[in-house]
Amino acid sequence: MHALLEELGTAASAALVNTFGAEGIPAVLVFEPSPRADVQCTAAMQLARALRKAPRDLAAVILPTVLAHPAVAQAELAGAGFINVTLHSEWIAAHLDDALVHRPIGAGQTVVLDYSSPNVAKPMHIGHIRSTILGEAMKRVLRAVGYTVVADNHLGDWGTQFGKLIVAWHRYLDADAYARDPVGELLRIYVKYSEEEKVQRAALGAPAKSEEDDDAPLPAQAPELLLAARAELVKLQAGDPANVALWRQFVDVSMAEFDRVYARLGVSFDEVLGESFYNDLLAGTVDDLLARGIAEHSQGAVIVTFTRERDGEALPPMLVRKADGGFLYGTSDIAAMRYRTGRWSPARILIVTDERQQLHFRQLFAVARRLGVPAKLEHVWFGLMRLPEGTFSTRDGNVISLESLLDEAEKRAADVARSLNADLPEAELTAVARVVGLGAVKYNDLSKDRQTLITFTWDKALALQGNTAPYLQYAYARIRSIQRKVAELGATPGPLVALEPTERALVLALLKFPLAVEEVALSARPHALCDYLFALAGEFSSFYNELPVKDAEPAVRAARLTLCDRVATVLRQGLDLLGIEVVERM
Ligand code: ARG
Repeated sequence: MHALLEELGTAASAALVNTFGAEGIPAVLVFEPSPRADVQCTAAMQLARALRKAPRDLAAVILPTVLAHPAVAQAELAGAGFINVTLHSEWIAAHLDDALVHRPIGAGQTVVLDYSSPNVAKPMHIGHIRSTILGEAMKRVLRAVGYTVVADNHLGDWGTQFGKLIVAWHRYLDADAYARDPVGELLRIYVKYSEEEKVQRAALGAPAKSEEDDDAPLPAQAPELLLAARAELVKLQAGDPANVALWRQFVDVSMAEFDRVYARLGVSFDEVLGESFYNDLLAGTVDDLLARGIAEHSQGAVIVTFTRERDGEALPPMLVRKADGGFLYGTSDIAAMRYRTGRWSPARILIVTDERQQLHFRQLFAVARRLGVPAKLEHVWFGLMRLPEGTFSTRDGNVISLESLLDEAEKRAADVARSLNADLPEAELTAVARVVGLGAVKYNDLSKDRQTLITFTWDKALALQGNTAPYLQYAYARIRSIQRKVAELGATPGPLVALEPTERALVLALLKFPLAVEEVALSARPHALCDYLFALAGEFSSFYNELPVKDAEPAVRAARLTLCDRVATVLRQGLDLLGIEVVERM
């Protein structure tokens, strides 16, 4: 399909150039599938203004070249200047195999994909889970179109919170609780620390402060706890063996929990280069920013300022070194940009986080551009997910909750599977429940535009109707069952024969698979692939409701088996690109 669209677009462009000269005319005009026609071109409307011509006049010049293409059965000028193209059914049938071929648009190019990136000693919250699911889908999609992908988990494993945690460890640790649930206990003592610090602050008559003020200079009247925490932090940063050992322990126990989540979700990384990895590069990074005139001194600190003229937009200044010499989250991000550029020369760097970090990444990317980082920089942000009361059974949004969420998903999926097929043996039912439950949770995240706010409900996520994973997984299993039944008759797949209208629509839908995958690779919006798979399953339903497979005469039956096979393959591959498995029976 891609090749055809490109041929049509090139021929159409040439026709315009011949008539009006090359000025303002792209080398390839856009032709794309549309609900109104097999293929549609809207370029005449888009170019009309620049060329000072009526859209219909432009379309009339393009039309003959479209008609001349051997794949085209019919093309007509419609409305304001649309060109609607009908393809020869023979052409469509002959290109069935293209449905499984992805253009290697990323060949020879590397993408650094920064996702998941939870914070050590804190449980992974729901935002990290979304980042993990979206990032994993992007990794698979980018690889499918030929990119070399470096999946990098930018762990939050460094920063001021470790001074506090060390103090809390010495004062508040319950060793038994820690042995049972290390991250839970680290969270508890951290929260305890914060509460105690607040009490001390109030006693001093100092204003209460929020977590975000952590990087602010010490107040004149500092609580004793905060002084202790800063002292432990300085020791840690100076390499004090006891503190470094504690810090490493925090990282290790946290990583063990994260890894349990990753294993369950089927997620893997190539690199886990956390913030601490960049620690030794921070001083040099800031010096270099200063030497190049990108950063400047301001009240003892070092900041980068942004102007509309130079950076395209005026943004608040970015702090890269505090007056006390300490560095920040953003400083390690700048170091990471340079490190990644030096090590992998990526064509693109994608960072997946929730929407609250948009300003941070606009600042970071502006700094990177001034540093000459040549990669295309993309902040793949997503809206927050709303959870109705009671979705999680224990502590909100934490690792244990995720595990209980997945347990609950599997339990509910088992009910769904039982309702579909009461005869499924218990072991198989468990396997189905795992795949469907996990699929439902992931697909719920992936199927909506990532920038919209979504609400998670069990009924919607697990519904067997509508744009859900269980629906697609069931569609897949149903096709496999059809295939098995027909195979029992000794029939095998064969070449396509003259296509009925619903078969034609189905093949056309299959041919759009690589287009959907490419769209996701370029736009980092996996919901486009979900929409595609949902539409494909719908086309299959129409086909199967209307035409017999098992009882068709042999040549037709063989052709329809081929169609079943391709639809199943595309559903399986498409779901796999989203990180979702299928089962052979449901
Ligand atoms: N650890 C951060 C957080 O939890 C996300 C890190 C994203 N990646 C990055 N390069 N800053 O908010």
